[in-house]
Amino acid sequence: MNLLAVVGNPVGHSLSPQIHQMFADETGMSVTYQKVQAPLDGFAEASAKLLDQGAVGFNITVPFKFEACDLADTLSQYASRAQAVNTIKRERSGLLSGHNTDGLGLVRDMTENLAWSIEGKQILVLGAGGAVSGILEPILEQGPSSIHIVNRTHAKAVALAEKYAGKIQAVKPSELSANYDLVISGSSAGLPSAGESAQEMPIPKQIIGEHTCCYDLIYSKTETPFLSLCRDLGAKERADGLGMLVEQAALAFEIWFGKRPDSASVINKLRGGHMNDEPENPDLT
Ligand code: ATR
Repeated sequence: MNLLAVVGNPVGHSLSPQIHQMFADETGMSVTYQKVQAPLDGFAEASAKLLDQGAVGFNITVPFKFEACDLADTLSQYASRAQAVNTIKRERSGLLSGHNTDGLGLVRDMTENLAWSIEGKQILVLGAGGAVSGILEPILEQGPSSIHIVNRTHAKAVALAEKYAGKIQAVKPSELSANYDLVISGSSAGLPSAGESAQEMPIPKQIIGEHTCCYDLIYSKTETPFLSLCRDLGAKERADGLGMLVEQAALAFEIWFGKRPDSASVINKLRGGHMNDEPENPDLT
């Protein structure tokens, strides 16, 4: 039996145990996947306990993705650039490798499941928090013609764009172009945790036109506020973050076991049921 887990706070709504159980069934692996809710100051202790119990590895979700960088002995390129780790693997040597599969998960969902191309496209990213920092590098690798980031707190967008030396531009709402090819929302506006300001959408409407594809990193059984706005504005195609959630999990499974599970069938099963009614945080693995 291979022990795996997700460590976070909260983890109650996490779909990861279900997803990894489906992967295990399909690939013939024997897996026990636990949800571990660690106290806010208890990530190191929770991780040590899992490793003592013989865990093969584990996922990390809010708010511990940054702390998990310190736990890892080595960091993958994506984890290092994002300074955030969502997957830890105990290597044969006993060392812990840290990975970030969020961005590649998003790219796989867009390019393979949705058949949206990123190459040569003008992209706008809404938000500049943890979820956005994890996705930029793999998107850049697809060769978009431009990536703009707009955020309620402009200084955070500037700081994030600076890490990518001229390849990504932080823009103010007044500087946004019309009709981006792809708009990705990584803003937590619309989540129950965003409170009364949940409906604020600090973006001019001209950014979305009839050839714009819109992706919300949040996943939800009901339409998210961002995707409903995109529908009203006549967007070409829309998708929520369920596919990204499953794809980042598939990449983690591959890191642990060297087997690539059939993610599309898991996405279909989850769309058919098993989800919460509340919109879910994009960072909730
Ligand atoms: P996560 O890890 O989910 O990305 P985060 O790091 O707290 O969470 O980032 C949340 C993002 O959503 C930020 O870009 C935040 O904008 P600020 O940087 O200005 O805080 C954005 N956000 C949250 N609530 C918002 C709201 N009501 N309107 C617009 N943007 C909002």
